[in-house]
Amino acid sequence: MTDKNNNSKKLWGGRFEKASLPLVEEYTQSVEFDKYLYKEDILGSIAHVKMLAKIGILSTEELEKLIEGLKKIESQIDRGTFEWKRSLEDVHMNIEQSLIDLIGEVGKKLHTGRSRNDQVALDVRLFVSHMVELWKKELLALIRTFVDVASRHKDFILPGFTHLQPAQPVSLAHHLLAYAWMFKRDVERLDDALTRVKVSPLGAAALAGSSYNLDPEFVASEVGFPKVFDNSMDAVSDRDFLLEILFCASVIQMHLSRFCEEIILWANPCFDFVTLPEEFATGSSIMPQKKNPDVAELMRGKTGRVYGNLMALLTVLKGLPLTYNRDLQEDKGLILDTHHTIFLSLVLAKGMLARLEFKRENMLLAVKKGFLNATELADYLVAKGIPFRDAHRLVGNLVRYAEKKNVGLEDLSLEEMREFCSKIYEDVFEVLDYEKAVERRQVYGGTGKNSVEKQIENLKQWLKETGGSV
Ligand code: ARG
Repeated sequence: MTDKNNNSKKLWGGRFEKASLPLVEEYTQSVEFDKYLYKEDILGSIAHVKMLAKIGILSTEELEKLIEGLKKIESQIDRGTFEWKRSLEDVHMNIEQSLIDLIGEVGKKLHTGRSRNDQVALDVRLFVSHMVELWKKELLALIRTFVDVASRHKDFILPGFTHLQPAQPVSLAHHLLAYAWMFKRDVERLDDALTRVKVSPLGAAALAGSSYNLDPEFVASEVGFPKVFDNSMDAVSDRDFLLEILFCASVIQMHLSRFCEEIILWANPCFDFVTLPEEFATGSSIMPQKKNPDVAELMRGKTGRVYGNLMALLTVLKGLPLTYNRDLQEDKGLILDTHHTIFLSLVLAKGMLARLEFKRENMLLAVKKGFLNATELADYLVAKGIPFRDAHRLVGNLVRYAEKKNVGLEDLSLEEMREFCSKIYEDVFEVLDYEKAVERRQVYGGTGKNSVEKQIENLKQWLKETGGSV
């Protein structure tokens, strides 16, 4: 090469005379985080060269050399012997340069008919689809744990709250299963989002499509995606699929956070409904008695980080003109951070849940304290012909009376009750029984035992059907 032809070591260096400032190189590089996408980058490149051979741009011999080289690089990275260079900017150019160094001239054909713009879009889509499969697997394991723990606690009852005030008695199994249904929706939401993730953008090239006779469908089927892009400009600039996944992640972390909030309350000695597993608690450096629910607190706290990542990407995308803009590079850090948080949170939530010890007696005591059978008594009076509004007031008066005596409604004598209403008879005591109050709610989706059993059965069936596809 003559001097005229050579001026920079960069793969894009042809038109440059001067090297980037070191600080500019540092500021613009993404290899520090996109190196975690190396498997997807190599998978995409292998699909690309196979397609180039299929349409006659590469010979079989060239194809074999390129694939062999790419696989060698993959195993170097697997083993930790690959040397990442920040000066080569990103995962794509690190691998491409290393391929050229490894196999020579033919390596320079890798990027034919491709741009880093469609390449990175494919890499991210592949990475996210692999990541979501891991999340789904952990979500299913968590749902399975909720079902197991619920099955073991069908006879435990505790106060159900509205406004965080005692409302009606519910079974602990029913309470726990509410979370199983939330996480089931999370799996379904992810599946739905995946249909928009698994669309191959390769062939869009820089922005306008390619003048080579490329075969995007072939690339898509090589990487296991059922669809290809419809518009090359949209294909290189679209990150909606990431927003959807970050939203799904936000909902997952919010669900985990709500569960953690309950564990934190229940572990407080004022509630004393649950013993925290010691492996999931920490002590205080000053107060010797403390057993703090730090894992649950952090899981609640990390919700801020996950929401933040969604907000960050929404903001990155706002105002971007078509098509690819370097701003899009910011997506990788957000996705990786979200993955780390969601995956570990799901694993730990499952471990913590499986080890919780529920305190049946304390839960029952709390039920008794809160007049949780008041609605039952009102319904009883309605059955005796009293209009509901009047029954509501009557029972309110009875509650006030019992509260002053510091006893539950069921502790009042029949005579005391009849002073408030002559339509109360001996059969009232059965109505006031807390366990029977739970049992009466057999409507599907209610807290009665049959309903809970049906929920467990339905969830198990769904797990069986869904588990197979994950
Ligand atoms: N590191 C870049 C990114 O993550 C890769 C694509 C760069 N494309 C470009 N035209 N500079 O978005």
